[in-house]
Amino acid sequence: MNDITEKYILALDQGTTSSRAILFNKRGEIVSVAQKEFKQIFPKPGWVEHDPMEIWSSQAAVAAEAVTQKGFSGQDVAGIGITNQRETVIVWNKNTGKPVYNAIVWQDKRTLDFCEELKKQGKEELIRKKTGLVIDSYFSASKIKWILDHVKGARKAAEAGELIMGTVDSWLIYNFTKKALHITDVTNASRTMLFNINTLEWDQELLDLFSIPKAMLPEVKDSSEVYGNIETSLFSSQIPLAGIAGDQMAALFGQLCIKKGMVKNTYGTGCFMLMNIGDKPVLSENNLLTSVAWKIGGEVRYALEGSIFIGGAVVQWLRDGLKIIKTSEEIEQLALKVSGSEGVYFVPAFAGLGAPHWNQKAQGTIFGITRGTTDANIAHAALEAIAFQSMDIMKAMEADANLEIKELRVDGGATVNDLLMQFQADVLNTVSVRPEITETTALGAAYLAGLAVGFWKDQSALENIWQEGRRFKPKTDRDAIEKMIKAWYKAVKAVEFWTE
Ligand code: G3P
Repeated sequence: MNDITEKYILALDQGTTSSRAILFNKRGEIVSVAQKEFKQIFPKPGWVEHDPMEIWSSQAAVAAEAVTQKGFSGQDVAGIGITNQRETVIVWNKNTGKPVYNAIVWQDKRTLDFCEELKKQGKEELIRKKTGLVIDSYFSASKIKWILDHVKGARKAAEAGELIMGTVDSWLIYNFTKKALHITDVTNASRTMLFNINTLEWDQELLDLFSIPKAMLPEVKDSSEVYGNIETSLFSSQIPLAGIAGDQMAALFGQLCIKKGMVKNTYGTGCFMLMNIGDKPVLSENNLLTSVAWKIGGEVRYALEGSIFIGGAVVQWLRDGLKIIKTSEEIEQLALKVSGSEGVYFVPAFAGLGAPHWNQKAQGTIFGITRGTTDANIAHAALEAIAFQSMDIMKAMEADANLEIKELRVDGGATVNDLLMQFQADVLNTVSVRPEITETTALGAAYLAGLAVGFWKDQSALENIWQEGRRFKPKTDRDAIEKMIKAWYKAVKAVEFWTE
């Protein structure tokens, strides 16, 4: 058998639109990547589902592909880390392993009315104190309840102990271990709205509130430990499964935001900004979420999080809805045709407004259009909107943490866009740092698994290999930026007014 230093860590990144697998070497460099998109199912307006079997098969296929692509085998892999789209839930039969319904995706809004009802019942403070979350259909609990209430026979079977549930990590692990493990980690658990982030245990009062039998839930583990081995025939040998984290927490770790006060922003379909707030679950006074960032070697770290529902998705809309660009990359060229948005403000509240506004009913709007407005101005305004929304979150974070954020670590698809990154630095008046490896979600999962199997000795070994790519410093005239920020606030207010 090879020496562990010559081996690799395999990160499995099960995202909202695709399953990916990335093999990393000892220097934290990417050795191979495999990716497979899967079907998005929209049964009704506002409903979003995935086929759990396709989640599993696509993830298993890319896992094998990433390893064999380079002529490696299971013996070359020292450990596997799993990271996943969070909040999305699957309920399945524990004997047959068959799901009773499709996965209900985090973006799904079918439980909106139930959530409004909970607010009316005055449950906000109870839920916030226990879970760090605000009441919203985004989180898992109301989605599990929906499955138990609407799928024929589901509640009865769940009460008889035949059904179990999990977020996507649990579902993959159950399949990868041939039903041997029904587990999750603290980060994923902290997004279900059933997990008490103070005691780090499932909370009976919340389970009662959502009428969910406790026996359905997975066992909650640390984010970095050897949980067991991958048992499928995918690889010729057994590989330790050694890391689990929800994708945004994995990205925080992959960005090595391991000191209190460090912040990262991931620009994907949505944007997710997380700040490491240390070992106490400080609750937000500014509508942000408090979640578990990770638990390693028994030590817990917490994060403040602001989620924006529409980030890169606004660019997709310009491509697929408005059709003013053919590929997402073209937006930068189009926006560069003009010096700015020239008075156009775009609030892309296509799926309501996330943090810090939490307005489930808000809709997207474009303000300030004149006869001279062009597609390039709209493209510019769309990019600016991503940066403005991130600014709203960062301001809330600074207020909560009572400190000024000096540096933002950025990652995700849209960070290749230099125009956006520069505008982000200008709007925040803060340096934005893009790392050398922008696949930070997978990298974080790899770090977590690598630490558990001794591939990397400790967190300072990781600090030695993490590399900065490019730094964007604020450079635009501050007065001009302040004026734009004021106009942005006005636009958001108007959107909220329209919703009332
Ligand atoms: O909270 C949802 C988030 O985890 C999804 O991330 O990257 O799959 O869109 P992503």
